[in-house]
Amino acid sequence: MSAGGTHAGAPGPRHIAIIMDGNGRWAARRGLSPSAGHKAGVERIRDLLSACRDRGVEVLTLFAFSSENWQRPPKEVELLMGLFYSYLRKEARRMREEGVRLRVIGRRDRFSPRLQRAIASAEESTRGGAEGELVIAADYGGRWDIARAARELAEEVAAGERSPESITEALLDGYMQLADLPPVDLLIRSSGEQRISNFILWQAAYSEFYFTDTLWPDFDESELDAAIAAYRRRDRRFGGRGEGGVVAGV
Ligand code: IPE
Ligand code: IPE
Ligand code: MG
Repeated sequence: MSAGGTHAGAPGPRHIAIIMDGNGRWAARRGLSPSAGHKAGVERIRDLLSACRDRGVEVLTLFAFSSENWQRPPKEVELLMGLFYSYLRKEARRMREEGVRLRVIGRRDRFSPRLQRAIASAEESTRGGAEGELVIAADYGGRWDIARAARELAEEVAAGERSPESITEALLDGYMQLADLPPVDLLIRSSGEQRISNFILWQAAYSEFYFTDTLWPDFDESELDAAIAAYRRRDRRFGGRGEGGVVAGV
């Protein structure tokens, strides 16, 4: 059954993360403002989530708003916050019905109290979901995540609860966001940019990367299938020799 899949032997991927990029360019090509691109971009999520579930993907993590995106013009930030709010209000019920659990990762304290409440309520109402998980990274930065985990550990050391010697890679790993989920197998970025833009720095250590020129609002099931097919052709070695040993001149 395995077509060069994960080390567990299943074809996978179990966990896909996506940097949803290209809304602005999609809109600009149509003579529209970035807002129109963001609205079209949000519309992709519902179908993509169910396409992932149909393909046996257990977790979908979406980069929706980076810790640097506050630098966008205030009107654009406001629009993005509004879209996030209405997405949560609209989709939480559907997710609950479909057994999808929602989790939001990132700082929350810079969001309005209303948005913070909508996040908490969407998470609470989907808590029992066992059919799949949707993670939305919002006001998230990979460096923030590492610094936050380090601070938590430092506080435990300061409180005398642990020794500095106890801090290992494996321990720190458990303090990072997504630690309780399967590792990110496949990291997709749309829009042709080939950078990580401060997304999951720690968690992507052995993720397979897939870049497509397609702009996010055009990212559909066939794009997802192309990314999954590419993933399944990869030989994930994790620093070792892989299943086939050394293969010359492929
Ligand atoms: C991605 O689309 C969405 C967010 C960053 C919130 P962009 O708005 O970055 O689209 P481009 O890169 O300008 O095309
Ligand atoms: C990354 O896209 C963040 C999200 C898609 C949410 P950006 O458009 O902000 O990244 P840069 O600025 O091109 O690196
Ligand atoms: Mg962009």
